[in-house]
Amino acid sequence: MTEQKVTAEDFERMFHFEEGTLPEFIRRELDNVASAHHLADAQEQAEYVLDFLKRIDQKTITRTKAENLAAFESGWTENYNKLLRDGASLNSLKPGYFRGNKFLRYNNQLIVSDNLQLEFDLFRIARHCIFYKYLNSSDTICELGCGSCQNILMLAELFKDANLIAADWTCASKKIADQLGVCLKRNISGHVLDMMDIKDANFIPPGSSIVTIHAFEQLGTNFAGILDFMIKSRPKIVVQYEPVLEYYSESNLYDFLALKYCRKRNYLENYLAALKQLEQEKKIEIISTYRPFLGGVLHESSLIVWRPL
Ligand SMILES: C[S@@+](CC[C@H](N)C(=O)[O-])C[C@H]1O[C@@H](n2cnc3c(N)ncnc32)[C@H](O)[C@@H]1O
Repeated sequence: MTEQKVTAEDFERMFHFEEGTLPEFIRRELDNVASAHHLADAQEQAEYVLDFLKRIDQKTITRTKAENLAAFESGWTENYNKLLRDGASLNSLKPGYFRGNKFLRYNNQLIVSDNLQLEFDLFRIARHCIFYKYLNSSDTICELGCGSCQNILMLAELFKDANLIAADWTCASKKIADQLGVCLKRNISGHVLDMMDIKDANFIPPGSSIVTIHAFEQLGTNFAGILDFMIKSRPKIVVQYEPVLEYYSESNLYDFLALKYCRKRNYLENYLAALKQLEQEKKIEIISTYRPFLGGVLHESSLIVWRPL
């Protein structure tokens, strides 16, 4: 079986860097990842598909809003306790749902690796690519749906002078953000915000950058209020790494399964279409949108970068 590795050139292709321009710190980070993998053979593919179909049929795959909030509150409370116990590190803030898996969706195929944390390792590098490329010149960065604040920590490490704002509907996320500000001696503020029920939130200074990662995912089609809130906040750029169902192809087996899964979980849908409509109305400009073809064990995220006009 031919073993391959994920290379700097792969990341340049996935995140639209000019050839040879991937920053040195990202190349070094990639050198330290055990990325050896092979394409899934027929037996492995069958194992993956069977497991996926069983998951889609599980009753627990759908949650009420209250159950969803409770699950995230409990998960992020565990991370808060780890932060207090072990200090600020990506390890303390790693979400518990990265359980480890030998399978990964990659480059429109299914790969198998001995590194069961390959998904998380490549996700970390993907975020460095995204942050470096789109948030480099930001004085203030706000993450909506910040969760355990793992991205806030990465942003704080990457951009030493940036002010950071972290919002989520869990109280644990606010506690983590505020504690991170104390630990790192940085201007980091936490805010409790239900993105499906925006009232009179007003914590994003005009000219800030907004980022969302795997967070709008949770909103299904209930994004009109938060979209309006973002536009009214007058950010200079909005960078979103979220599932974009429009980019899946129903004639590809793995995409078809991902679509079924996302719909069963009531994940984000029709969001890119809504942004395109706003672009037609000359209210926003979509700067860039693409699918990097990087999993996720079960599904993938795509980039949407835009700004209000
Ligand atoms: C999959 S996690 C991603 C967290 C974080 N962005 C990351 O990349 O680690 C989804 C996040 O969205 C948050 N979330 C879900 N529904 C929300 C809502 N209605 N308002 C605000 N946050 C919400 C959850 O609490 C959780 O932190």
